[in-house]
Amino acid sequence: MTKPLKNKIAVVTGGSRGIGRAICLRLAEMGADIVVNYVRNQEAADETVKAIAAQSGKAVSFQANVGDSNACEALIDYAVQEFGGVDILVHNAAIGAFKPVHQLRPNQWDLSFEINTKAFLILVKKVIPLMEKKGEGNVVAISSLGAHRFLPSYGAIGISKAALETLVKYLAVELAPKKIRVNCVSGGAVETDALRSYPDFNELKKDIVRKTPAGRMGEPDDLARVVAFLLTPESSWICGQTLIADGGLSLV
Ligand SMILES: NC(=O)c1ccc[n+]([C@@H]2O[C@H](COP(=O)([O-])OP(=O)(O)OC[C@H]3O[C@@H](n4cnc5c(N)ncnc54)[C@H](OP(=O)(O)O)[C@@H]3O)[C@@H](O)[C@H]2O)c1
Repeated sequence: MTKPLKNKIAVVTGGSRGIGRAICLRLAEMGADIVVNYVRNQEAADETVKAIAAQSGKAVSFQANVGDSNACEALIDYAVQEFGGVDILVHNAAIGAFKPVHQLRPNQWDLSFEINTKAFLILVKKVIPLMEKKGEGNVVAISSLGAHRFLPSYGAIGISKAALETLVKYLAVELAPKKIRVNCVSGGAVETDALRSYPDFNELKKDIVRKTPAGRMGEPDDLARVVAFLLTPESSWICGQTLIADGGLSLV
């Protein structure tokens, strides 16, 4: 396989599990050196690092709660220390209380915005000088369909993701002159730990498969492949967009 990301250094937040893990594996397969960020689950992060090593890639893990601005900065500093810079940033980590919006406590609202939205801004601010130094950079945020349509008990995440998608547009315009490309990948339901923790998961899964025109649930690599596309020159004219991969679910 050709290695279009050879000599590139990528930081992936929430790379230990689910979609983040699939992104780490795919970018490593494309030749990038990876910093696998996690918050709690060191075992899963180490397993992702091992899986990358098994396919002859290079990766390290780093614990950082991206809801904490200092930890975001430490994550980027670690990438510089280990690999010498950052060419690619993927903000995938996300969290949110599953309950109706009107029942959210203010701290639950804040937590979603801190991790899902504000962390992206802090991380991007930190990588701008590194990417400017290299003359280019590429940034991708991960969103979900709940940013634009009502999903039961999903408001804490969905609203913060809507803000994230708008943040992507602003940053994309502001950073394009610096040759830093900023885009977003959004997806329909993907079976990961996050979705399995949803109330009535089994019913939800049946419903999603029934409603999805392509007739199945999403898999982590369905989103990872779109992230990969946004990191290659083939997508070089795409700027500030949210690409949706959902088997057609958002159209029905
Ligand atoms: N699953 C879906 O149906 C779906 C669909 C579309 C889009 N998405 C989006 O895809 C992304 C990943 O979702 P997922 O389903 O793969 O999630 P997941 O299985 O719950 O994994 C979450 C990942 O984020 C990390 N994480 C959580 N809080 C963090 C924090 N404060 N700081 C650093 N890392 C943190 C976790 O680390 P630990 O392992 O240490 O806990 C884990 O690696 C999210 O942005 C989500 O909104 C998901």
